[in-house]
Amino acid sequence: MTAESIKHYQDRVNRALDRRLPAADLHPSDLHQAMRYAVLGGGKRIRPILVYATGAAVGAALEALDAPACAVECIHAYSLIHDDLPAMDNDDLRHGQPTCHKVFGEALAILTGDALQAQAFQVLSQDAAMVADPALRVQMLGVLAQAAGSRGMVGGQAIDLAAVGRELSLAELENMHVHKTGALIRASVLLGALSQPAIEPGVFDRLDRYAKYIGLAFQIRDDILDVVGDTATLGKSQGSDRVLDKPTYPALLGLEGAREHARVLYEEALTSLEPLGPATDTLRWIATYIVERAY
Ligand code: IPE
Ligand code: IPE
Ligand code: MG
Ligand code: MG
Ligand code: MG
Repeated sequence: MTAESIKHYQDRVNRALDRRLPAADLHPSDLHQAMRYAVLGGGKRIRPILVYATGAAVGAALEALDAPACAVECIHAYSLIHDDLPAMDNDDLRHGQPTCHKVFGEALAILTGDALQAQAFQVLSQDAAMVADPALRVQMLGVLAQAAGSRGMVGGQAIDLAAVGRELSLAELENMHVHKTGALIRASVLLGALSQPAIEPGVFDRLDRYAKYIGLAFQIRDDILDVVGDTATLGKSQGSDRVLDKPTYPALLGLEGAREHARVLYEEALTSLEPLGPATDTLRWIATYIVERAY
């Protein structure tokens, strides 16, 4: 049942993204091709899935969730394009294919990220099926802007770059992960929750706590997979963190320590959902998936 809903959400967001991205032959077509390459070329769609699963848990209409799901995935895809650039992680492989800058060149890859970021906010501001209340829509725009910007993902990426080759404390490492990855995952849950105008503040807070725990756990698992995964399964180059001397959870706590830390966060995420009952079962499944996934 849950696995079916996940597949259903993936298919749904893939169609919604395809419809919302500019056509590949639209001028300037190399830019539009690159946007479609980066977004439609692969990815687990975990952030859109969280938008749908959270929205469904609180009784939001599925149609109202398409735009927030697409917006958050556009920000994510942009973050990966820039993350892979030579000036950042210098990676050649993403989703089992050459990275955006390898195919389209560095300059166009930068612009592709820029364009996807703008596309995200355009989608979120214009979609007719989204929640109707203008104040809620503005709140959603603010949630995504904060999660994407210098106090969210971009801030985390800046901390990541400044941390290369340095020994971070556990608190510093957590702060970096909470920003670079946690912020967008948290925003995904909040956008789903805000798609139900009648959501109770207590429920909203519980979902927010769940989101914070799984957001951090997601990046810890990503760090672990960089050590124990293989390139073919991951679709990106295994061992990239060690090559770049990145501060990671396995580097600081060892593999078992990192796994244990993710397990504690997972338990906290489930505790946060406890009072919300079976409506949040898909969110529980996602939490399990996040700490156990192989790619
Ligand atoms: C990878 O994110 C980058 C991180 C934030 C850890 P995902 O693992 O969600 O990337 P895709 O889109 O599924 O490939
Ligand atoms: C990426 O973290 C976080 C963002 C893109 C914001 P990583 O650099 O660890 O992601 P991967 O491993 O390249 O996917
Ligand atoms: Mg990186
Ligand atoms: Mg990277
Ligand atoms: Mg990584």
